[in-house]
Amino acid sequence: MGLSSRHLLGLDGAPKSDIELILETAVSFKEILGRPIKKVPTLQGKTIANLFFESSTRTRISFELAERRLSADVVNFSASGSSVSKGETLKDTARNIEAMKIDMVVIRHNAAGTAHFLTRVVQAAVLNAGDGCHEHPTQALLDMYTLKEKFGSLEGLRVCIVGDISHSRVARSNIYGLRTMGAKVSVCGPATLIPREIEKLGVEVYHRIDDVLPKVDALNVLRIQMERQAGGLFPSLREYNRFFGVTKDRLEKIDHPITIMHPGPINRDVELSADVADGPHSVILDQVLNGVAIRMAVLYLLGTTQ
Ligand code: CP
Repeated sequence: MGLSSRHLLGLDGAPKSDIELILETAVSFKEILGRPIKKVPTLQGKTIANLFFESSTRTRISFELAERRLSADVVNFSASGSSVSKGETLKDTARNIEAMKIDMVVIRHNAAGTAHFLTRVVQAAVLNAGDGCHEHPTQALLDMYTLKEKFGSLEGLRVCIVGDISHSRVARSNIYGLRTMGAKVSVCGPATLIPREIEKLGVEVYHRIDDVLPKVDALNVLRIQMERQAGGLFPSLREYNRFFGVTKDRLEKIDHPITIMHPGPINRDVELSADVADGPHSVILDQVLNGVAIRMAVLYLLGTTQ
């Protein structure tokens, strides 16, 4: 039994059985990550290129670690210092790399649709590591894994995604994935950062954080992405923090614990106070570890069972 597609481009329309298979497979890989020797020969002889055209810490390191833990050969590419800076197109770059007999390509790019585009120009399996404001499927999978690990099931779980929904590929992939898995999803943020008609994706919309906190089991707090905003979408970071910041004071008013997630990197004391980020209900570093297990699972499923 394998995945329904030979690529992982997004979770929009991904079958529940695919998501379940990835989450189940990741359990075994997480167990391997706890061993003294954290390496298996599963992808020996396969070559994977990591094409990162946009900054990344967690996703880039996590994919590379996952590939090395599976014994794949790894080639890392970043736009700076490559022939992209001399004007080479993405299509030519990708086809030249593939000519060197690459089996899988992991790509991050600031343009939505880049991973889909690559599937039309290369034969290799393509994994989307974040394309513009569109999707970040492995982030949503690791978020779902972390919630499942904590709560046992995603069915009926109440999850609110807080912050800059408009510019967030993490929000979009989480909404698609969590809804497919039966979770109740809401979003909360200023009206200027929430896409119009997002309710059509099956989410509830809140514009006051204090209204949603009593109704959720977990918050996925998003980074305010200054680099993707033309400006003027909210008055100031201080004001954003005052109205939407997830703080200890706010959480202490709620009569049940709320699990705190953040995809990183965190703007401490903007969207999330430092004491909450480092507090007892934060699973932010669990997300990071689970990311390696999830990426091992996806690489294994795409690399061996198609
Ligand atoms: N969560 C995430 O995508 O982080 P990076 O941008 O550091 O990869």
